[in-house]
Amino acid sequence: MLEKLIRKVDEKDVAILRVLDGLRGSFEFVLLEKLKEKLPYSEELIKERLRKLSSLKIVQAQKQGEYIGFKILEKGMDIISVWNFIKHDKIVAILSQIGKGKESILYSAIDKEKNWVVVKLHRYYTQEFKKIEKSLAYASIKLRGIELNLADYMIDVPRAKAQIEFHSMKRLYDAGINVPKPIDLDRHVVLMEMLCEQPGIASPLLKDVKLTNPKDALELIMDDYHTIINKIGLVHGDLSEFNIIVHENDLYYIDWPQAVPISYKFANKLIERDYRNITSYFRDKYKVETTRSLEDFLIKIKEEKRRF
Ligand SMILES: Nc1ncnc2c1ncn2[C@@H]1O[C@H](COP(=O)(O)OP(=O)(O)OP(=O)(O)O)[C@@H](O)[C@H]1O
Ligand SMILES: [Mg+2]
Repeated sequence: MLEKLIRKVDEKDVAILRVLDGLRGSFEFVLLEKLKEKLPYSEELIKERLRKLSSLKIVQAQKQGEYIGFKILEKGMDIISVWNFIKHDKIVAILSQIGKGKESILYSAIDKEKNWVVVKLHRYYTQEFKKIEKSLAYASIKLRGIELNLADYMIDVPRAKAQIEFHSMKRLYDAGINVPKPIDLDRHVVLMEMLCEQPGIASPLLKDVKLTNPKDALELIMDDYHTIINKIGLVHGDLSEFNIIVHENDLYYIDWPQAVPISYKFANKLIERDYRNITSYFRDKYKVETTRSLEDFLIKIKEEKRRF
């Protein structure tokens, strides 16, 4: 879908999308007059491009009294980010969708050295904001909002999730933890190395393989998670067999948009959940137990140092 759409737009279309995106915070629907002010194109050209973008469902047109206003849709924002990655030489082409979850859509892409990479586009969790409010990603976003001194309503959830994921992965990668190499961040989109043993085919998830040495794998996950918590100061918050990739005989940790710092008030609850997910998975599937206790992982931090 996105791989086809990106071929249908050019620099001028993207310039219009950029202006619509930039004015998103100020107007729900942007009038043609405003676009004319901000763009070096004729009224005719802008109108023609807006017709095209509306028919591609990248932009929504809606009557505002006697005028028509325009609003950028999610696909339009996807296009700006992918366009930027291409323009900045981070990728040469976006290829095909490799995954679609509740919270994200993933595409494979290729860079100029012909390495495979993943484009992860973050989404709103559900249509209802209520659910987002209760989600861990949102707790993490709120924390980020407090750090940046922003009011809640100014926080763009998919963008915040992408930021949290990218910056968490960067810290982990730089510290030598096995995560895909984070490459770039643009709005709500994270670009990262693709873990694949065959060209363009993602390496399998832990849940889809039969390990020959499950006890070693379990202890490795426990050791890595202990390091992540104690040395990096991060809690994954959704660690499970669904978010660990088996790659080149090693294990890699993915899916970090809900990561929180260990100072987060409910960090221990999340650590406990992560610990139980992993230990019960290995117990049920392989009948092996870890030598590490949950207490080994829990944070001992003074109450007054905890944040929100
Ligand atoms: N860097 C990567 N290399 C290879 N495959 C990846 C990579 N990142 C993600 N994937 C694949 O895409 C799937 C979804 O990615 P991820 O877990 O990050 O997103 P998600 O929002 O949790 O999506 P879902 O709800 O489907 O789990 C993963 O289960 C994995 O198979
Ligand atoms: Mg996942």
